[in-house]
Amino acid sequence: MSYGLWFRNYLKHPLQLGALFPSGAALSKLMVQHIQPRNSGHVLELGAGTGSFTKALVRKGIAPEKLIIIEQSPEFVALLKSNFPACTIVEGDARNVVEILNSLGIEECDEIVSGIPLNAMNAGLRKAICSEAFTILKPGGSFVQVSYLPRCSIPSDTMAYHNTNKIFCGIAVTNLPPAFVWRARKND
Ligand SMILES: C[S@@+](CC[C@H](N)C(=O)[O-])C[C@H]1O[C@@H](n2cnc3c(N)ncnc32)[C@H](O)[C@@H]1O
Repeated sequence: MSYGLWFRNYLKHPLQLGALFPSGAALSKLMVQHIQPRNSGHVLELGAGTGSFTKALVRKGIAPEKLIIIEQSPEFVALLKSNFPACTIVEGDARNVVEILNSLGIEECDEIVSGIPLNAMNAGLRKAICSEAFTILKPGGSFVQVSYLPRCSIPSDTMAYHNTNKIFCGIAVTNLPPAFVWRARKND
């Protein structure tokens, strides 16, 4: 991946990207550390960008055919399609998760991984994206979210409404910028 592609996108949509650099290996590892490959269900990635978390998911043993990606930037979608041809990659807005997945014939996901910079969004959009994600998440699964601030960016009331528990996963200190990871696990 050329940094030029990332930087051009950053200049066009700084708040949509939320970071001056793509996610590093330590952060990617932290984001997927709780995920166990299961045989059946789908794993959803929101805001995959250049695919650092996607690569970590595939390394973890998630079959690419089970990976669904929703990414807003057409340039990143083209890059992801060329690097992960077996994944289902949709150019779209994460606020429409349920509609997008239903149109693919998918009613629920085992796990959700999100690189979307929720902290850079207004509260209404943040809530709408998380609510959609929790609606499609299977009980027992988690919605894992990166944050570039030392606070969880998944709204507490949305977590409570969808019967989830907040779990702190750790800090990737070597990431640029350092990143915090929380997940919300949906109770069975
Ligand atoms: C911090 S970047 C992800 C970085 C990624 N982990 C990587 O290493 O390249 C956030 C990504 O979320 C995407 N994004 C932001 N808002 C979105 C939305 N509402 N729906 C889908 N994708 C979105 C951006 O286009 C960007 O690619």
